[in-house]
Amino acid sequence: MPVGRPHRHFRTVGSTNQVARELAGAGAADGTVVTSDAQSAGRGRQGRQWSTPAGAALAWSLLLRRTVEVPGTLPLQIGVAVCETVEYLGVERARLKWPNDVLIDGLKCAGVLVEARPREGWAVVGVGLNLAVDEQDFPEELRGRATSVGHRIDPRSATTALNRFVEARLAAPVDSTLAEMADRDALRGRRVSWQAGPEGSHTGVAAGIDEAGNLLVETADGTVSLNAGEVHLGGSAL
Ligand code: BTN
Repeated sequence: MPVGRPHRHFRTVGSTNQVARELAGAGAADGTVVTSDAQSAGRGRQGRQWSTPAGAALAWSLLLRRTVEVPGTLPLQIGVAVCETVEYLGVERARLKWPNDVLIDGLKCAGVLVEARPREGWAVVGVGLNLAVDEQDFPEELRGRATSVGHRIDPRSATTALNRFVEARLAAPVDSTLAEMADRDALRGRRVSWQAGPEGSHTGVAAGIDEAGNLLVETADGTVSLNAGEVHLGGSAL
């Protein structure tokens, strides 16, 4: 089914990803989109919270049952589609901080949370996109690091655009998404630090994305490839 058909919209929910997961369990169709004006328990990556102030941001979740050619690139496909949506809404250039933070002028305007259940044959992809969040409405730890697309953007037209760009990205060859990602790569050439394995903290210089969607990093011991599920990038990356 095309992305956004069917579409369930709520005034407020805990988490649109949670609602979409429950719908997946109840047999909902591929392409089902869940949106809400506000979330009371929005979830971010790595167990963080995600805030969605009423009417000022999109909380959008998509249920996928279709086969994704290279599963590791799904977050990038969605991240690129969000960049394209942000530009369609009037921003000159949106960039991606691997794996899928969307940035405007270096500040985060959107995040993507993929929750996949390969054995059950589905994945829920959640996008939180700040449309017009006032600075004081961002959680304290995000102030000065987060931004919005701009004022006077109708959340319904933003949703329609996001549906359309995600549909097109999911249908596009992975190579074209990787090329778009390379063009928008906010980390390339930057020093990054990350936590992984028993040794804990590592550091190196970001050197692009490989064909599986992993981040390449040049270190003193050679180039390593980082999987988004296994690493936690440090705050010094940008
Ligand atoms: C991140 O940490 O950057 C990812 C944030 C993802 C937030 C979105 S909002 C819609 C969907 N529902 C959730 O509970 N989380 C995602």
